[in-house]
Amino acid sequence: MSEPGRRPLMAGNWKMHKTTGQARDLASALVAGAKDDRVEVMIAPPFTALATVAGVLAGSPVQLGAQNLYPAPEGAYTGEVSPAMLVDLGVSYAILGHSERRQIFGESDEFIRQKVAAALEAGLKPVLCVGETLDQRRAGETTAVVEGQLHNCLKGLEAGSAGSLTIAYEPVWAIGTGQTATAAQAEEVHRFIRTWLAGRFDNGLANSVRILYGGSVKADNVRELMSEPDIDGALVGGASLDARSFLAIVGYKG
Ligand code: PGA
Repeated sequence: MSEPGRRPLMAGNWKMHKTTGQARDLASALVAGAKDDRVEVMIAPPFTALATVAGVLAGSPVQLGAQNLYPAPEGAYTGEVSPAMLVDLGVSYAILGHSERRQIFGESDEFIRQKVAAALEAGLKPVLCVGETLDQRRAGETTAVVEGQLHNCLKGLEAGSAGSLTIAYEPVWAIGTGQTATAAQAEEVHRFIRTWLAGRFDNGLANSVRILYGGSVKADNVRELMSEPDIDGALVGGASLDARSFLAIVGYKG
């Protein structure tokens, strides 16, 4: 169980799913069903549905997230979306460095570092994703890979700004595969991340930052994951696309 000071966060990453009508229906069902304020709920629809979903979430405790941003205030960046444009829509979180962005779109740690800095500058709360591939895990490189990602993506960050960070540990081999890390495997890396944060910043900050687990989280495995001391929530892909399955995750305490 997460430390008392850390309110669990259950985040739904809708990826490239949902037209505006579908997004309105799903968001409405979540607002109606997410009643437990012991858990913070965030949903990250595609850019095209952000305005619609913001309207549905207005006045509700469910938070709005973006799946990406471009790290510049404005300019000639065809097809991109600035942090200020997201803030303008009522977005409060930004998922950054997701493994799909890293793998499909070739995003580097340095580019992600710029995004984290730009998000914080604009008042958005970054959810920084880190995690190893199956080959890296098999080669015993998990902590080295995660440490490298943390080091590079948080380079230059002041402790004062780091307080609004969330980290998501998402082993690449567990994303969309139905193969979840065991609670013990996840906890080992979460603990490593928290210890790293304590060294890089301080104990107080390390104990307050939420570390989410992501990768095939479902209603039937979330409770075991959440029983670990350093797992403070989940970043959920596939199972966040349906109100019943996401609400079952949000209400993991049963
Ligand atoms: P999944 O995705 O729950 O579908 O495995 C998690 C993620 O990519 O954030």
